[in-house]
Amino acid sequence: MNREDFPILKNELIYFDNGATSLKPQCMIDAVVDYYTNYTANAHRGDYDNSLKVDAIYDYTREIVKDFIHAEQKEEIIFTSGTTDSLNRVIFGYFGVYLKEGDEVLITKSEHASNVLPWFELADLKKIKVSYIELDENLHVTLENVKAAITPRTKVISLAQVTNVIGDVRPIKQISELAHQHGILIVVDGAQSVAHMKVDVRDMGADFFAFSGHKMCGPTGIGILYGRRELLNNMRPLEFGGGMNATFSPNGVRVYEEVPELFEAGTQHIAGVIGLGRAIQYLSEIGMDLIHKHELELRKYAIRRLKEIPEIIIYNEKSESGILAINYQDIFAQDLGIYLNNYHICVRSGNHCAKILREDMGIKNTCRISFYFYNTFEEIDHMIEALKNPNIKNEII
Ligand SMILES: Cc1ncc(COP(=O)(O)O)c(C=O)c1O
Repeated sequence: MNREDFPILKNELIYFDNGATSLKPQCMIDAVVDYYTNYTANAHRGDYDNSLKVDAIYDYTREIVKDFIHAEQKEEIIFTSGTTDSLNRVIFGYFGVYLKEGDEVLITKSEHASNVLPWFELADLKKIKVSYIELDENLHVTLENVKAAITPRTKVISLAQVTNVIGDVRPIKQISELAHQHGILIVVDGAQSVAHMKVDVRDMGADFFAFSGHKMCGPTGIGILYGRRELLNNMRPLEFGGGMNATFSPNGVRVYEEVPELFEAGTQHIAGVIGLGRAIQYLSEIGMDLIHKHELELRKYAIRRLKEIPEIIIYNEKSESGILAINYQDIFAQDLGIYLNNYHICVRSGNHCAKILREDMGIKNTCRISFYFYNTFEEIDHMIEALKNPNIKNEII
């Protein structure tokens, strides 16, 4: 779908590493170039035409994001540098204040490092406890296992909506209903979901929701933190400086802006904001349902074709996203990645930043194939052809 929109696809390239980052459509690139070429100015600082134009587009992008994830107010949308930044801001800025010694956060062993390490750091600082929701035999999260993990000290559950290795789609709505019944807040890492399916933060009951622009056809270095307004009103900024203060005096008395400006100190990644807005418009024009449907069809087809090769092990057949975790018997995952690169096929090999999953999976490394809407069935056929090469092992050695 829409391959002609992606200039990089004019090259000989089969890009199956969309979990790491997505390719960029020309319209998004043009929007960024247009800002740098024709109306460069800072945001919220000038009274001249270009500055006012930047203000208008910057503020309008907040509306675009709000509508895209179905937030209630545009003030609930904070521009950040990406999911990692968004999660750190919530974990230290909100939970760093809210949690008390002995309180518990529930995560799983398949979370990305960005949803694990900040909690470990906070645990050291505040003496809170990080506990794990057990995964089932498919490495999925079930409501029963969430229920079993909740204790009277559980104050927050922090989960990816879709994980980056197994690609399982978590039942966030049911989990948040359960969590809220116990007065527990829910943080959702949307890095692998928002680009691939319709996301409705209110319907799923997310208290906080984090994602990155670069995985959804936008520029690198821009991301979003959504938070319910009353929670953001009680969140502490991690950065202080220009743009987030209303006034301050020599004796240290200061008055800060309200949300969202409170959390956007310093000159922001304006080109990133503009590019993200254009990327979201582009994705919306295609339709998130269509994107999701196409990815699931690619997945189904790829599984069917991969099964023609007896040496291929598929680890996550039961998941419902465009992410496939595989290995080729007796070939090291990294070697397989390098081999496929000879055919201009890009996949991701390694442990994918979910390092504590290793024990539960029983393997250290996998090859991750992750689809997006511009991938085709023919591309999958090319990969299968490469994998069926009877000399594959000789070519690797
Ligand atoms: C599930 C998940 N969470 C968080 C991240 C971190 O995203 P970023 O590197 O854009 O901050 C990623 C990136 O791959 C991810 O897959």
